[in-house]
Amino acid sequence: MYAGGEVKTPPAVHHTGGMHGMEQAPPVVLLQGVQKSFPLDHSHDLQVLDIVHLALPVGGYTVLKGPSGSGKTTLLNLIAGIALPNSGHIQVNGTDITILPEPQRDRFRAAQIGYIFQTFNLLAPFTALENVLLAMRFAGAVPKRAHRQRATDLLSRLGLSTRLSHRPAQLSRGEQQRVAMARALANDPPVLLADEPCASLDAATAQVVLMALHAICREKNMTVLIVAHDTAGLEGADQVLDMRDINRATGRLNGVEPS
Ligand SMILES: Nc1ncnc2c1ncn2[C@@H]1O[C@H](COP(=O)(O)OP(=O)(O)O)[C@@H](O)[C@H]1O
Ligand SMILES: [Mg+2]
Repeated sequence: MYAGGEVKTPPAVHHTGGMHGMEQAPPVVLLQGVQKSFPLDHSHDLQVLDIVHLALPVGGYTVLKGPSGSGKTTLLNLIAGIALPNSGHIQVNGTDITILPEPQRDRFRAAQIGYIFQTFNLLAPFTALENVLLAMRFAGAVPKRAHRQRATDLLSRLGLSTRLSHRPAQLSRGEQQRVAMARALANDPPVLLADEPCASLDAATAQVVLMALHAICREKNMTVLIVAHDTAGLEGADQVLDMRDINRATGRLNGVEPS
C-alpha cells in the first residue's frame, strides 16, 4: 500500500476516499417516487416535493443546494421521518420509514439519524454536556457507562472542553452550533442531516465548524446530506445536488413551469 516510498504515519481516518470502491454497496438513503404537499386551503395543495429517485451512497458527503422555498428542509424532514410523504417510499439503511408506526419511527430516528437543525434546537435549561447526554439516553444506542466520556470527548474535539457546563444562552452562536453537532453525532448515526448549519455563523467560524464536522463524518464513514446556501462547505464534497435538478416540483413552485 505504501510501496515505493517512505512509510508515513497513516492518517487517523478509516476512510478518506468518499465513495471510491463502494459503488456496489446499496444506498443508505433511497427515495422512490416521493411526493409531498401541504394543504393551502380547502381546495388547494402546495406541492413542494416531487422526487422520482434519489440515492445517497454509503459514506458519501452530499451537499444540497437550492433557492429558499425549494423544499430542502422538507426533504430533510422526510428522510428523518419527522414528516411523511403523501406518496412514495423512503428507505434508510434498508428500512422503509414511511410504513413504520410513529413510535418506531421516533426510535429509528434517534438511533439512525443525526440531525443538525438550522436553529440548533438545544434545550435551554440544560448544559452543553447535558444536551448531548440526553440525546444518548433517549436513543439507547451507546452503553450507558460510556455516555459521559463519549459526550465529553465529542464536545472537546469540537473545541468546547471549557464550555461543558454552560447553558445555551451562555454560549456564542458558533459554540451552540458545535453543541448541536456533538448532539447529532453522539449516537454514531449512520446518516447525518444538516440543515444550513452555518447560516447564522460568520465565515471564519463556519469554516472551522464545517472542517470539524467533515473530519468526524469521514472518520466514521457517515453518510452525510448537508444543506448549504453558498459555496462554503462545498469543498471536499462527493456530490453536489441542486433541488432544481432533483425535484420536479421546484419549477412549479417558482412559477417557471405552467401548472
Ligand atoms: N408545514 C407547512 N405547511 C405549509 N407549507 C409549508 C410547510 N412547510 C413548508 N412549507 C412550504 O413549502 C415550501 C418549501 O419549504 P422548505 O422545505 O422550508 O424550503 P427550503 O428549506 O428550501 O427553504 C415553502 O414554500 C414553504 O412555505
Ligand atoms: Mg430550509
